[in-house]
Amino acid sequence: MSDGLPMRVPAEGLPARVRIHEVGPRDGLQNEKTTVPTGVKAEFIRRLAGAGLTTIEATSFVHPKWVPQLADAEKLYPALTGIEGVALPVLVPNERGLERALALGARRIAVFGSATETFARRNLNRSVAESLAMFAPVVDRAKREGVHVRGYLSMCFGDPWEGAVPVGQVVDTARRLRDLGCDELSLGDTIGVATPGHVRALLTALNTTGVPTAAVGVHFHDTYGQALSNTFAALEHGVTTVDASAGGLGGCPYARSATGNLATEDLVWMLHGLGIETGVDLGRLTATSVWLAGRLGRPSPSRTVRALSPAGTPGSADSHKE
Ligand code: HMG
Ligand code: MG
Repeated sequence: MSDGLPMRVPAEGLPARVRIHEVGPRDGLQNEKTTVPTGVKAEFIRRLAGAGLTTIEATSFVHPKWVPQLADAEKLYPALTGIEGVALPVLVPNERGLERALALGARRIAVFGSATETFARRNLNRSVAESLAMFAPVVDRAKREGVHVRGYLSMCFGDPWEGAVPVGQVVDTARRLRDLGCDELSLGDTIGVATPGHVRALLTALNTTGVPTAAVGVHFHDTYGQALSNTFAALEHGVTTVDASAGGLGGCPYARSATGNLATEDLVWMLHGLGIETGVDLGRLTATSVWLAGRLGRPSPSRTVRALSPAGTPGSADSHKE
């Protein structure tokens, strides 16, 4: 452990490998008070790729007034050419967004629905049914063009306006997203209220309605410090796609009380300790988050980043242990 790596002690019944879906540049930076310069975003994504992440959600083609932090998508996406072997999915809410993404050559998109009516209205200005109707032609065209489609589902465990969200309601919307043709679903705990038994119950309920675990990823925010326990419950259920955000950046501008996502470094520490492969170099990843913290002017909230960068000084990229 003195070399900055966890002791490797595998546990029974867990997947051998996990694909980390890195959301820092999108879910993280969409929530920053100030807009990060395009060049810094591009460098952030290049460093994440250099640390071994193979799926990096780059930006969103949404209305620039709704998420001004990502209004530079047209400038950023072309600045990412030449990053080899890395998928760069983007968020797309409607046909206009898809048009913009396809024009730049995006090959992976994500639509983003809600299990609750209030969040659907706040995030997409539409009811749940209207938002699914908005996604239908998007998914349809993307599939015809051979583009991979992820379907996010927010508020799967609780909603700040509606409270507890019944599992049946989540399963119903998840099924409808899947019926549209989404290749994969990502179950969002947008405000971080889930606990492990709840995760297990939702995954089991999805299986009973015909959604296979292989088509499901999990997306935990860490508001109550439950994100890692929830991830462990999902791994025990067979989930192999886990969303996380470098340095624990994040939140959602349209969800009161959403804090950062599960930090990628915290996730990698646990997975490597369990002997699960990720392809990620924890030292390089930590250095990236320390570097970005320097650009943002505040330390990363990730416990692992702090532990591996004892100097704790944002920007001191060489302070981590390899
Ligand atoms: P709207 O105001 O209802 O849009 O917003 P509209 O369809 O009525 O169109 C109004 C104008 O916007 C039109 O222009 C459109 O062309 C333009 P006008 O004719 O008036 O000049 N427009 C666009 N411009 C650029 N790009 C577009 C676009 N669409 C319309 N794509 C809309 C509806 C969906 C656009 C809006 O609500 C929106 O952009 N919402 C995005 C919200 C968002 O990005 N939230 C954060 C991501 S979700 C999240 O973080 C959760 C997640 O992490 C999982 C979890 O944690 O749970 C994924
Ligand atoms: Mg999120």
